[in-house]
Amino acid sequence: MTSVSSGAKSSLRVAVLASGNGSNLQALLDRIATRHVEATVVLVVADRADAPVLARARKAKVPAIVALPPEPGEKSAAFNQRLADLLRAERPDLVVLAGYMRIVGPPVLDAFPGRIVNIHPALLPAFKGLKAVQQAIDAGVAEAGCTTHLVTADLDGGPLLLQAGLKVRPGEPVESLQKRILALEHLVLPRTVQLFAEGRVAADGAIAPGPSWRTRTDLPFVSGAWYSDAF
Ligand code: GRF
Repeated sequence: MTSVSSGAKSSLRVAVLASGNGSNLQALLDRIATRHVEATVVLVVADRADAPVLARARKAKVPAIVALPPEPGEKSAAFNQRLADLLRAERPDLVVLAGYMRIVGPPVLDAFPGRIVNIHPALLPAFKGLKAVQQAIDAGVAEAGCTTHLVTADLDGGPLLLQAGLKVRPGEPVESLQKRILALEHLVLPRTVQLFAEGRVAADGAIAPGPSWRTRTDLPFVSGAWYSDAF
C-alpha cells in the first residue's frame, strides 16, 4: 500500500530543563494548549527530585519526565554527558532552560548547537549571573526586564533573542520587581519558542521577519511594558 503524506507540519519538539517552581514551563504549556505556540513538550528534566516543576509536568502529561540530580561527587563533565545522552534520546528540536540553575556543559552544547535557549531575569547584557533582579535594584536602574538568548559557553552571554522591559518603581522591593519581571518572562519564553516553531531563528540568533503576536487581541500583554520588535 502506498502511504500518503497528510501534509501536516510536525510540531516542534521541546525539552525543558528546570530546577524550581516551573512557572515558565507552565506558561509554555498553557500557550501550547491555547495554540499560541505550535510545539510539544516531549521531555522535562529537573536537577532536583523535589522540584515543583516535576508535578507540573506530570499534571500536563508530558511523555518523559526525569529527575536528574548529580550523583554525589560526580564531576560536571560526567553529569553533562548523562544529560546530553538523556536529551538526545528524545530528539528535541529545541532545548529550553527555564530556571535551570546549573551550567550547561560542552556535551550538551555540542549536541544542540544554536538550539538551546535560556530565559534570564534581566535586560542582558546587563546583570548576568545569579540574583540578577537584586543586581538591577542595587545599580539603581530605571528599567528592568527579561531576555531570552541562545546558550553558548559564555554564561548568559549568547546571542540575544527577545526582551521585554518595564519601569522600576521608586523604592520597589526586590520581591515586587521579581514578580513583575516573571509575568514578562511568561510571555517572552513562549513567544521565543514560537519563533523557533516558525523556523525564524538562525544559528547566530538573527530573527527573520514574520507574523507578530502584538496584533493578537486574545493575548493579554503586561500593561506599561515594552517588547522587542519580533514580538
Ligand atoms: C525565573 O525568574 C528565571 O528567569 C530564573 O529563575 C526563575 C525561574 O522561575 N532563572 P520558574 O521556576 O520558571 O517559576
